Amino acid sequence: MQTNLKPPIRRPLIAAFAAAFAGLALLHVAAPVRADDDRAALRVPMLPRYQQECAACHLAYPPGLLPAASWQRLMGNLPQHFGTDASLDPATVKEIGQWLQAHAADPRRSKAGAAAPPEDRITRSAWFVREHREVAPATWARPTIKSAANCAACHTRADQGDFDERHIRIPR
Ligand code: HEC
Ligand code: HEC
Repeated sequence: MQTNLKPPIRRPLIAAFAAAFAGLALLHVAAPVRADDDRAALRVPMLPRYQQECAACHLAYPPGLLPAASWQRLMGNLPQHFGTDASLDPATVKEIGQWLQAHAADPRRSKAGAAAPPEDRITRSAWFVREHREVAPATWARPTIKSAANCAACHTRADQGDFDERHIRIPR
């Protein structure tokens, strides 16, 4: 009789589906900057002073891309800022510094908050290297891109804190 075969076949199938769903749930939690929490954190409204003073030479990087310790070091060393002088008066340093501290990556929610990257560069964070492993070295060097720090060259909505893959256009 065929009906006798049904239960033993079905049970392993249900177990397989349950395992697949458990796996998906785990993947979602482990994803670095992909979690919805993280995405929302990157779209924090910019402090006008930050936009004014820190977006002259590059993007006003969302504060959620570095841990608090990195922002503190960067703000404490503006006269020697990656080979340029980005000095500001003490009151402005304080205002921007406090805002960056308040919105820095949260180590409990985001991989970007886990550890200060080398040189306090977003572009040297483990998550950054992983997310960009498919970008060839020659691509970074294109005259239209110049540097990995030039986020907006490829992320067309970087100025809105939106790094979603749907809005990436790699220039030639
Ligand atoms: C005078 C120009 C200038 C100003 C103003 C400036 N920066 Fe920069 N910044 C640079 C340069 C140059 C680099 C290195 C870019 C590169 O490697 O391509 C850099 C890099 C950075 C990086 C690391 C980017 C990476 O590689 O991940 C951070 C973070 C940063 N700046 C934050 C700030 C903050 C915060 C302010 C405002 C207080 C600021 N910058 C103002 C010139 C400037
Ligand atoms: C040469 C073009 C290029 C530059 C410059 C660039 N990226 Fe990306 N970025 C990419 C590509 C390609 C991906 C991978 C998209 C994918 O396959 O999911 C990516 C992925 C990401 C992701 C993950 C997006 C997601 O939805 O999971 C984040 C966050 C990100 N980049 C942030 C940055 C930041 C911040 C900068 C600047 C400091 C930057 N990127 C510079 C091309 C670039």
